[in-house]
Amino acid sequence: MLEALARAAEASVRLYPDPESSSLRARAAAVYGVPVDHILVGNGSDELLTLLVRAIVDPGDRVAFPVPTYSLYDTLVAVQGGEAVRVPFPADFSLPAAVATAEARLTFLCNPNSPSGTLVPVEQVEALARAVAGVLVVDEAYVDFARASALGLVGRLDNVVVLRTFSKSFSLAGLRVGLAFGPPGLLAGLRAVKDSYNVNRLSQAAAEAALADLATMQANVAKVRATRATLTGDLERLGYAVLPSEANFVLARRRGVDQGPIARALAARDILVRHFPVPALADALRITVGTDEEIRSLLDALGATA
Ligand SMILES: Cc1ncc(COP(=O)(O)O)c(C=O)c1O
Repeated sequence: MLEALARAAEASVRLYPDPESSSLRARAAAVYGVPVDHILVGNGSDELLTLLVRAIVDPGDRVAFPVPTYSLYDTLVAVQGGEAVRVPFPADFSLPAAVATAEARLTFLCNPNSPSGTLVPVEQVEALARAVAGVLVVDEAYVDFARASALGLVGRLDNVVVLRTFSKSFSLAGLRVGLAFGPPGLLAGLRAVKDSYNVNRLSQAAAEAALADLATMQANVAKVRATRATLTGDLERLGYAVLPSEANFVLARRRGVDQGPIARALAARDILVRHFPVPALADALRITVGTDEEIRSLLDALGATA
């Protein structure tokens, strides 16, 4: 990948990038088995989320999503003047039925979800797509760590957009590259509101190289999955309830016990975990699956603080 970056830098940074990211899209089409005209490249999947809200939501329109979830959805809907319809997940983070009947112009499903790490089965995603009134966006930022993806719905259903990113399983967050898979007509609406040169030359070249070397990503994913399994068991032995995670983090809960002080005690030892000081998550920690060494330090410190 570094060679691809060097080549792109030497050859052509004085030139504007391809506004359509054509070469990267061709590679993505081959890798994911989706036609080129069903793919749009974004400056990270965050840009694609922004474009979706900008293109689809008018002031006052309803945008539904189960919560707690990725906090950017709330922000984007507020900026656009839409009405966020937040449907609480039940304790097991299964899909709440009311998302389907929210009469929303746009529905977000983060799958696997953040911060829970849980996955809604593809059959339920398909049923949701068929039931919602508008567009369903399935944010699959963490899906390479999961067992199943909704990408197969693209092309079959005309209201489904699936988002992917190079920031997680490919460990390339600094590149800022995301992919949207969806119906060409809908993607045309996103193109109409995007910056022409939204993805720079170096990032296009590097992302294409990353897709040519899936083995590196897959080895990373295999390691994370193995560590996730041992981390889950070790946290359970320490008294935490851990939701079944299909992501590169786990949500560990001690029912009714505020984990804010634990997160701060860990931070004092330079161990960073996420604590969300909101009622639904105050007794939980979101722990990223790090290296074996990082996980050992975390467990030692948790054992000492518990
Ligand atoms: C659920 C979810 N979607 C999208 C993103 C944004 O990814 P990107 O780096 O591609 O903008 C993140 C990043 O944390 C995320 O957690």
